[in-house]
Amino acid sequence: MTTNVHLLQSFFDGLTHVQGIVSLPERIHHGTTIPPSMKYTLVTGANGEIGHTLLEEFANDANRAVVAVDLSPLGPDLAAHCHATIQGDVSDPALWAQLESYDFEEIYHLAALLSTSAEKRPDVAHNVNVNGTFGLLRMARTIGARIGKPVVFLFPSTIAVYGVPTLDAKNAAAPLTEGEFLTPHTMYGINKLYCEQLGGYMSDRYGQLTDDAGKRVLDFRALRFPGLISAFTVPSGGTSDYAPEMIHAAAKGEAYACFVRPDAKIPFMAMPDGVRALIELASAPAERLTQRVYNIGAFAPTAEEIAAEVRKAYPNAAVSYSPHPKRQAIIDSWCADVDDAAARRDWGWQPAYDMERAFRDYLIPNIAEVYAGKA
Ligand SMILES: NC(=O)c1ccc[n+]([C@@H]2O[C@H](COP(=O)([O-])OP(=O)(O)OC[C@H]3O[C@@H](n4cnc5c(N)ncnc54)[C@H](O)[C@@H]3O)[C@@H](O)[C@H]2O)c1
Repeated sequence: MTTNVHLLQSFFDGLTHVQGIVSLPERIHHGTTIPPSMKYTLVTGANGEIGHTLLEEFANDANRAVVAVDLSPLGPDLAAHCHATIQGDVSDPALWAQLESYDFEEIYHLAALLSTSAEKRPDVAHNVNVNGTFGLLRMARTIGARIGKPVVFLFPSTIAVYGVPTLDAKNAAAPLTEGEFLTPHTMYGINKLYCEQLGGYMSDRYGQLTDDAGKRVLDFRALRFPGLISAFTVPSGGTSDYAPEMIHAAAKGEAYACFVRPDAKIPFMAMPDGVRALIELASAPAERLTQRVYNIGAFAPTAEEIAAEVRKAYPNAAVSYSPHPKRQAIIDSWCADVDDAAARRDWGWQPAYDMERAFRDYLIPNIAEVYAGKA
């Protein structure tokens, strides 16, 4: 493992000293002191699409000392928001040992191989998505036991955990609740479904035959994300990528051949809603949560409905369809829409962006800036 620790500790040391609070209980790591009001937060996969938006959100929160981990180094702008950045592999035991010395109160475990990448490299996917998650869950339990309270562990799961057997069954089904059709067709969906179960087990039953039974040291919470669409980054490696690819291609003035049929339908969400959902679920009182895994929804268009919205913004957009039979089959096995009543009831989930607002207020204005001068 290559580790490249970049500590911005002088800032935090200075802050503690200036505020004269050295006599209060402090969280200490490797000689670094942070004020008692601050909490250590771990973000893995910090250099990915969700990580970018999450770190920018955390930059507005003066009470977080963020430790960011990714295989690839963060750019200086993102690193500047972090207490420390570590370049490493989440499936590497040496990294778990290094991270274990921080008193993390919240962990956002975003690092993963996504659906298309996992199908191409299933061995690597299993190691990163499952073994990496197991290692970090065990690490979180050790930290929770040490700091004397459950570590909140946020896990971004996915609609890929669903495996609807036929297109007719998909079209006939009402929006799926968390417990239906859990027979995923992909390595990625299987990895995520298993880790949903593993996180619940590690929180509630791990060590159930030992004297440690019942000790609350881990509080695992999972969100099943639909396809997320960001104005600022173009995804790679996912099977829902056709929506963001279509939008970004139109903004750049490029033709786009969509890899699914016009009638392909799955749920999507604007990135700010997805990141807000993670943060809201993390801060929800534990006693309000009746389950560990929640669906969240926003809008569920067909590919052609997305193309129509793209054409409204970019009348010259050239969208054609060239369905890839195997990627189409994966999309056909995912739900057409989700039932997110439990999230709305338990922690007040409410998307801010329907499709029209996502395009009008988030995607189009921000994408215009991103490609200003480049189209
Ligand atoms: N983006 C979506 O539409 C979507 C939907 C559902 C769930 N999710 C989940 O959200 C999480 C983040 O997704 P994203 O869209 O930001 O993905 P992404 O591919 O943009 O980012 C993933 C990041 O993880 C890093 N990574 C991969 N393997 C690693 C390893 N072994 N060690 C350390 N870092 C590693 C990558 O370098 C990358 O920066 C993933 O767990 C994904 O399954 C995403």
